[in-house]
Order: sequence, then C-alpha cells, then structure tokens
Amino acid sequence: MTESNANIHTEFHRLLGTEAKETLLQQRGLVIWMYGISGSGKSTLAVSLERHFHEQGRLTQVLDGDNIRHGINRDLGFSLEDRQENIRRIAEIAKLSRNLGVITIASFITPTNALRAIARDMIGENLIQVYIKASYEACEERDVKGLYAKAKRGEVKQFTGKDSLFEEPDNADLILDTELLSIEEATQQLIDAVSPRIAYS
Ligand code: ADX
Repeated sequence: MTESNANIHTEFHRLLGTEAKETLLQQRGLVIWMYGISGSGKSTLAVSLERHFHEQGRLTQVLDGDNIRHGINRDLGFSLEDRQENIRRIAEIAKLSRNLGVITIASFITPTNALRAIARDMIGENLIQVYIKASYEACEERDVKGLYAKAKRGEVKQFTGKDSLFEEPDNADLILDTELLSIEEATQQLIDAVSPRIAYS
C-alpha cells in the first residue's frame, strides 16, 4: 500500500450492488470493448449498436477515443506509456458504467495484447472484446479524418500501424472484418453476440 492510499477505506460493502440496478433497468450490464486501428469502423459500429439497443428501450453508454481524449484524458498522448494510462482510466470508467447495469460500448485502438489484457483483468466478467479488423491500406484509403494523409507527410507522430505498434489479437471474443462485412452485417453480428448477455431473467 502506498502512503497516499493508506488512509483510504473503501465503502463498497455498504453500497447497493449491481443486481439492484439491473433489476431497475431489467437488463444486465455489459462492456463491449471494440478495438482496431484508426478508421477500421469502431466508432461507426459503436453508434449503430447503441442506436439499436436504445430503440429497444435499453440504457447505453458509448465511450469513444476522440471524445475521451478531449476530456478526462486530455493530458495523454500516444506513447505506449500514455496509451496504457488511457486504457486503464477507460477500463475504470467502463466498469463503473457496466456496474450501473448499462450497456457500455468502448471504442479504442487498444493496440497491444497487453493493453487488451489490462482492460480484461480490470473489468472482469460481463465483457466482450471485439476486434474490428481492417488493413492499414484500407483505412488509408477511407481516411475519414485525414490522419493517414497527415501521417504519410510525417505530421502525426507515433501513428498506430505506421510508427507505433498494432498487434493482431491472440484471443478476441469476436472478429469483425469491415473489409468483408457491410456496417449492417457487422452490426447484426454484434447484436447477436450481445443480446443473450444483456437479457434479464
Ligand atoms: S489508444 O491507442 O490509446 O487506444 P485511442 O483510441 O484512445 O488510442 O485514440 C485514437 C484516436 O486518436 C484515433 O481515432 C485518432 O483520431 C486520434 N489520433 C491522434 N494521434 C494518433 C496517433 N498517433 N495514433 C493513433 N491515433 C491517433
């Protein structure tokens, strides 16, 4: 225990548990953690998945790289160390949200297996990790944010897949290849994987 947390006494035992919140919402909390390189389709799928569940009367929350990096993680850059702190904080937030019974959709590059394992170990159960797969070349072609062109001109440092590592996953729960699937098809596969996990019974 460090000196700074030696006098902190957690109060979890007196708080209402997740079960009570899930009963209120009539759904099970779940984290859907989508990872993949920039432009692979994570945010698009997060939006379409959230829309689907919202229309079904479900309570949802999307946590997205660009938004979180404008707010709580605005102090972090793209070194491996900062990416790890980014993922650690997001995993804490995702867990809080999931423990409210909320369907929590996290969409972050999460470039290495070690980072994915950090998120998995921190969040524990009620988590699905989904690899949103697309090649660097396909994402460069799409280049929705113009970042690939900038990276090519040397204007973005530590760009994932170029001069910063992106590892293929060693144990994804689900892989969605957005070069082969339409948005509708990929969304449907997500819905099929998620629906049984959130059903309240
Ligand atoms: S992660 O690696 O720490 O998981 P995160 O998902 O939060 O990354 O942020 C990625 C987003 O930041 C990208 O979608 C992109 O818009 C933006 N970005 C800015 N600089 C970089 C960079 N060097 N590498 C990757 N993404 C970057």
